Amino acid sequence: MNKIIFDENNRIFKLDTPGSSYMIKIADEEGFLLHMYYGKRLNSTITDDLCRLEQSPFIPSKNERERASFMDCAPFEYPCHGLGDYRDDAFSVLNKAGHTATSFSYRSHKIYSGKHALKGLPATFGTEDECETLEITGADEANGLEITLFYSVFYDTDAIVKSVRIENTGNADIKLTKVLSSCVDFYGDEYDTVFLHGSWARERIIDRKPLGYGKHYVSSLRGESSHQEHPFIGLLAKNADEDNGEVYGFNFVYSGNFIAQAEKSQFDSVRVLMGINPVDFCWNLKPGEEFYAPEVICVYSDKGIGGMTRSFHDLYRRHLIRSKYKDRKRPILINNWEATYFNFDTEKLISIAKRASALGIEMLVMDDGWFGHRNDDSSSLGDWYVNEEKLPGGLKYLVDEVNKLGLKFGIWMEPEMISPDSDLYRAHPDWAIQIPGRTPVRSRAQLVLDLSRDEVVEYVYGRISAVLKSANIEYLKWDMNRQLTDIGSFGLAPEAQGELFHRYVLGVYALQDRLTKDFPDLLLENCSGGGARFDPGMLYYSPQIWTSDDQDPVERMKIQQGTALIYPLSTMGAHVCDCPNHTTGRTTPFETRGYVALAGTFGYELDVTRIPETDQALIPYQIKMYHRFNDLVRTGDYYRIASFLENHEWDAWEVVSPDKSEALLTVINVSARVNMKARPIKLKGLDPEKMYTVTFVDIKAEPGKEQTLTLPGDALMYAGINPRIDNAGDFRGRLIYLRSENV
Ligand code: GLA
Repeated sequence: MNKIIFDENNRIFKLDTPGSSYMIKIADEEGFLLHMYYGKRLNSTITDDLCRLEQSPFIPSKNERERASFMDCAPFEYPCHGLGDYRDDAFSVLNKAGHTATSFSYRSHKIYSGKHALKGLPATFGTEDECETLEITGADEANGLEITLFYSVFYDTDAIVKSVRIENTGNADIKLTKVLSSCVDFYGDEYDTVFLHGSWARERIIDRKPLGYGKHYVSSLRGESSHQEHPFIGLLAKNADEDNGEVYGFNFVYSGNFIAQAEKSQFDSVRVLMGINPVDFCWNLKPGEEFYAPEVICVYSDKGIGGMTRSFHDLYRRHLIRSKYKDRKRPILINNWEATYFNFDTEKLISIAKRASALGIEMLVMDDGWFGHRNDDSSSLGDWYVNEEKLPGGLKYLVDEVNKLGLKFGIWMEPEMISPDSDLYRAHPDWAIQIPGRTPVRSRAQLVLDLSRDEVVEYVYGRISAVLKSANIEYLKWDMNRQLTDIGSFGLAPEAQGELFHRYVLGVYALQDRLTKDFPDLLLENCSGGGARFDPGMLYYSPQIWTSDDQDPVERMKIQQGTALIYPLSTMGAHVCDCPNHTTGRTTPFETRGYVALAGTFGYELDVTRIPETDQALIPYQIKMYHRFNDLVRTGDYYRIASFLENHEWDAWEVVSPDKSEALLTVINVSARVNMKARPIKLKGLDPEKMYTVTFVDIKAEPGKEQTLTLPGDALMYAGINPRIDNAGDFRGRLIYLRSENV
């Protein structure tokens, strides 16, 4: 059963997942830790010497004269700074003497069942029966530091999880200026990289390109993982596609500044680094103190990009998301943001709730504008007291009325923020992040609270918990609508200002940790100006995250395709919007908006009392559709079939139940194509031996009245199926449901 072994003769660690192996070698008398291999699973530790230890340049004990050559080409497992490895490194310091160099020499290791938690940080988890962990400890004696590298392998997915702990074992203070969480050195091959780039309302668009020489990276210095770039890097063999070829994916379990980089060296080797962005990072470590660098998830697939995707989905569903809702159908909500913006009161909300309840919607979420004197975005963040002018009788009255209508109630808050026009700011101007002597940069008119300060965290928590306890509130949308600037804290000493970015993120985590423990039944949805903090760190606290402020289904297909590259469909907040869409101005069929939202959590964001009668009439059918298919969508294996970003015409994706007895194919004919009927769509992931009943879903049809066919799995996958979409116009969609009785 052992998944991690230590081959004492060759001094090699071998870590196995079901389909991959990862090997590390302790080399030379100095205890260099070298990366040997990461790829398809191997049966033993026997390989040629991939670290090239017997070839020139020789290891230092055999050729001290050319130590520099060794340092500059050896595949280091945790590359250090300033001693001859000129590729980018993972670890640097500023010590008392003013020196920046670091080193790592192996000292000891431990292998054990199960997995450790990371103090104050989100982390994957698993029982002793589910995973095994290796800890390799090394020393940087000149700096008085102990460095521990953690590796956990899960028995049920092709993922290896890495993290790092630095301990000051010396007797002098030291500053950590860079502590990345993972490095993998790949041996000379041609690769493509995949990054997810974006902007507001256009998050996580897939960007694949060939990897040339030099450093290629994405990063954030915005204090959050961001709309713009994503803490993910994919490394693809040239021939890898959706279904075939070798693919590596790295994803950072962190919600603040990051760097994800691939560097192709002079020798064609490729170094992939990931961790906290070292820019503006400087952590003081006193003797006896420890620093934990967050986790990186490494996934290997020899089944193309789709294989990588499904491993991430499985890992996150089983070993990262903790909420009790993760395995449950979420209540179908209606959110009033795009229905009313700030212009609402109790009466308006109740009129929405009444209609929503009659149509089968299950929860009303009241968005921004219910507190302080907030009637636009210029004030009141921090003053989390209900505005009784808008909501007479307060939250309790409103929530009770909504509950009486048979709906649950949810609320929006933006706990990390402070408006200069707020009682909170007037009382505590020093609680905002800012630099004395500079006028802080406003964004959406607001400033950010200094969550590195305990008293600020305490205040924020007090307000959140008071609001939640004031009425029967069952859902919280936790928003974060601006990125950080003016990095200065009135609570930190001058030498600790370089800790603010990371301490801010730790403050967010501490708040959400406490919240989820004190309110275990609360459904938490994270959000950040749309999807700027959609990352594994936040998924540890909330089972769903608002994917984007762009709800136009055509744009959403791109955004959801990029997001689902790593994150399960069950985590993507997705709503049916009004038309013309508020972001793009595009008009699309109501049915199609429903099909696209079905690939996420599913809900509505429109004024249900005002949309056309014909659309209102469709809602009960869409709700039936959600209840019919959500279990499959939430738990199934996801396959990308076609992307209109590539073919410019049509898009399709599929979800298959783990036992292959059921599947749901969604096809959207984005730009009407004549003779679409003649285009066979080849399904994926079915059992070739099984017969499937294929149902052309008609959400309005009586049970048993939908058109069906019976076809074998192999024909469906290799010959394909006609989707039977007519040429009635752009943006037409179709659901096709497959079920096999002979499981
Ligand atoms: C952000 C969110 C929106 C909405 C507004 C309210 O933009 O992404 O969904 O909540 O804030 O101000």
